[in-house]
Amino acid sequence: MSNRLPVDRVVDEAGQATWRPSPGGLVTALQPVMRAEDGVWVGWAGVAGEEVEPFEADGISILPVALSEQELQEYYEGFSNDTLWPLYHDVIAQPSYHREWWDSYVRVNRRFADAAAGAAAPGAVVWVHDYQLQLVPAMLREVRPDLVIGFFNHIPFPPYGIYSQLPWRRQIIDGLLGADVIGFQRVADAGNFSRAVRRLKGYETRGPIIEVPIDTDDPESGSHRHVTTNRHGGLVRTVLARAFPISIDAEAYQELARRPAIQERAREIREELGNPETIMLGVDRLDYTKGIGHRLKAFGELLRDGRLDVEKVTLVQVASPSRERVETYRQLRDEIELTVGRINGDYATLGHTAVAYLHHGYPKEEMVALYLAADVMLVTALRDGMNLVAKEYVATRVDEDGVLVLSEFAGASDELRQALLINPHDIEGLKDAMLQAIAMPKRDRVRRMRALRKKVLTNDVARWSASFLEALTRSAHGDHPLQDA
Ligand code: G6P
Repeated sequence: MSNRLPVDRVVDEAGQATWRPSPGGLVTALQPVMRAEDGVWVGWAGVAGEEVEPFEADGISILPVALSEQELQEYYEGFSNDTLWPLYHDVIAQPSYHREWWDSYVRVNRRFADAAAGAAAPGAVVWVHDYQLQLVPAMLREVRPDLVIGFFNHIPFPPYGIYSQLPWRRQIIDGLLGADVIGFQRVADAGNFSRAVRRLKGYETRGPIIEVPIDTDDPESGSHRHVTTNRHGGLVRTVLARAFPISIDAEAYQELARRPAIQERAREIREELGNPETIMLGVDRLDYTKGIGHRLKAFGELLRDGRLDVEKVTLVQVASPSRERVETYRQLRDEIELTVGRINGDYATLGHTAVAYLHHGYPKEEMVALYLAADVMLVTALRDGMNLVAKEYVATRVDEDGVLVLSEFAGASDELRQALLINPHDIEGLKDAMLQAIAMPKRDRVRRMRALRKKVLTNDVARWSASFLEALTRSAHGDHPLQDA
């Protein structure tokens, strides 16, 4: 289950709607399992105010959940993306708290839970994804205590001092604790969650295990899994909450990077940019969490101070459109485009652009060509659950060249230690790292890239989903989840 289905609707010239797999890695990782297990994907079809009938896509049954235009505004744009998103990303932007948005979030989560409850076989495994659906685990457990329920949070889980702002902080914790296994990107996120559970619910935690007291008057209490007696003699259900860092289909990126046509396209991109000595690249959804403004500021100052020469260095910034009806995103777009315009106005020449700014999404093939063309990849997120762009760049570099500049505030920095790690708030430090990346001798680039590639190629998305599902199935068999720690 995920808010968005893994397929996008495309309408052809004849007005016929068809479904095309969306580019995300999640579906690639889960497709084999879903096919083998006769799985159903429950999600929103991406259009409001329309009922879409269940259908099949690439061997997976798709069960669409409908959202009205008002629910789109209140549940999706409102509570998910203007309350939870900024709150969970350390309040980089101010979250809005509206009771009607919360009511809508509850209603839509219930609709998702009901859809899954109707579709799941007895004892089935249900895997719920991301912050839009945090109430689903408990709602589902209530009506279907036979199910094995997993939840994975793709974005950060904030420290308690921030999380506690949320007026519905207890309800969300209760919602999540309906799962048998709760996965987070980083060890720190899992720790933040456990602390919130202790502070708000007073439940005990032992390492990654959370003890949820069972209401013994509840006739269903005996059907819970992992029921044990805790050290105070109370009956508890155990829930496992730990880190499972997500990854990408690394092999697919490598395969594309080895195609002669894509390598040719990478050369063509360099040529189209006037063959600069260095191409720096940023690839992000146009989101305020990504630190695009900080990156531009650093680059602009380097040009201003003559530490970089516009004839020699170009910054390519791909900013794919996102959540365009949410006000904070509109403001961000204006700010970024103003800054790009200023930098180009001040420093570009007729023959050399300073910032090549592209407000589009591109197919994977074109992204791989861009990664191959880029000498330096800039990932300067202010806060990011994982940041898969960093991993895509590394997987693409089959030539073992290229330098990754990576924010320590992105989950990927826990694993990708051989990147040039930066604090994006420290503009001087960021500028120095950019210059260090540009000047890095080939020997050092290769040494770092080799180590990074080893990490990404070993820990790919198939391994991620397998390890999460293994923890879940063990939980189904009643194995004590401590073994997973
Ligand atoms: C992040 C979230 C996803 C979300 C995606 C795109 O990666 O973790 O849950 O689907 O952004 O955002 P959108 O609002 O367009 O689905």
